[in-house]
Amino acid sequence: MDRKVCVAPMMDCTDRHERFFLRLISKNVLLYTEMIVSEAIDRGDKKKLLSFNIREKPVALQLGGSSPKLLANASRIGEDFGYDEINLNLGCPSKKVQKNKFGACLIKEPILVAECLSEMCAKTKLPVTVKTRIGYDDVEDYESLFNFIKTLKSTGVKTFIIHSRKAMLGKFTPKQNLNIPPLKYEMVYKLKKDFKDLEIIINGGISSTDQIKNHLNKVDGVMLGRTVYHSPYILADIEKEIFDNDKISSRQEIIENLIPYVKNEIKKGTRLNQIMRHTIGLFHGQTGSNFWKRYLSKNMCVRDADVKKIDHIMDKVKLAPQAHLEGQID
Ligand SMILES: Cc1cc2nc3c(=O)[nH]c(=O)nc-3n(C[C@H](O)[C@H](O)[C@H](O)COP(=O)(O)O)c2cc1C
Repeated sequence: MDRKVCVAPMMDCTDRHERFFLRLISKNVLLYTEMIVSEAIDRGDKKKLLSFNIREKPVALQLGGSSPKLLANASRIGEDFGYDEINLNLGCPSKKVQKNKFGACLIKEPILVAECLSEMCAKTKLPVTVKTRIGYDDVEDYESLFNFIKTLKSTGVKTFIIHSRKAMLGKFTPKQNLNIPPLKYEMVYKLKKDFKDLEIIINGGISSTDQIKNHLNKVDGVMLGRTVYHSPYILADIEKEIFDNDKISSRQEIIENLIPYVKNEIKKGTRLNQIMRHTIGLFHGQTGSNFWKRYLSKNMCVRDADVKKIDHIMDKVKLAPQAHLEGQID
């Protein structure tokens, strides 16, 4: 199996604008949508929820839900919209999500999940995949995880993305659930040993190319979330070091390449800040990073950002790496 690097689905982060921006940095990573609820796809504005720019591909559509019929229909619709994979969210621990019976609380209901996955697989030719956690509340033993995966595997699903910490349902906030339960990578490595025919992707707390290389010795792929959102240019290192790709755009070129997209989106009614907010971390770790952040928050990330400012961006980008100029320009 190929080594795979994915950018995690993240609500309010991995929208189509963020994905377009990330694709300018990396051609090889697999991108995911935010979780989209199958009921919303059934009843809502499908075009608004699902359309995306073909240049973002490959993109996986992540679904939330627990109705086999609605999930199956949503999978079919996702295929029609051109997505490359359909993923079921079995990892989100938020109270709202639990109330609606989807996300991590479904780990308690393997039979229902298997029914959902079987119907999804029957309705789409795309690969159907699962994103889940190693356990929940007091259920955190390897045997329970093994049995859960074994049940789901019987539906034909071949790819499992495992967030290597358990979900504390009802006790922790979503943010605490991303940080407090300890990471247990060994359980994910063991899954790969026990299910050699499955594609196992490891997720949680991965923040460097060295860590990625280490994980890739033990599993088939890695998924990174917050590190990419806060420091998107790590994707350039991933291109170089993991995919042996030397044709990397500089940070300046990335903004240059983003500008035509921004102008086109603005014509369609998108607000400047809806796109530029995702670029705040582009210069992370560089001299000039604070300057870039300040420039964006002052000019680009406010609601009424003036479209004319976009032509001004390149001058600022050229200056951004020069921290000593901070304070001399607005
Ligand atoms: C702001 C935010 C939103 C998230 N939204 C989703 C989501 O919609 N679906 C999902 O499966 N996981 C979601 N997650 C969890 C991430 O996909 C990922 O599993 C988690 O952040 C751990 O990976 P990391 O340590 O690399 O960030 C979200 C995480 C964050 C920080």
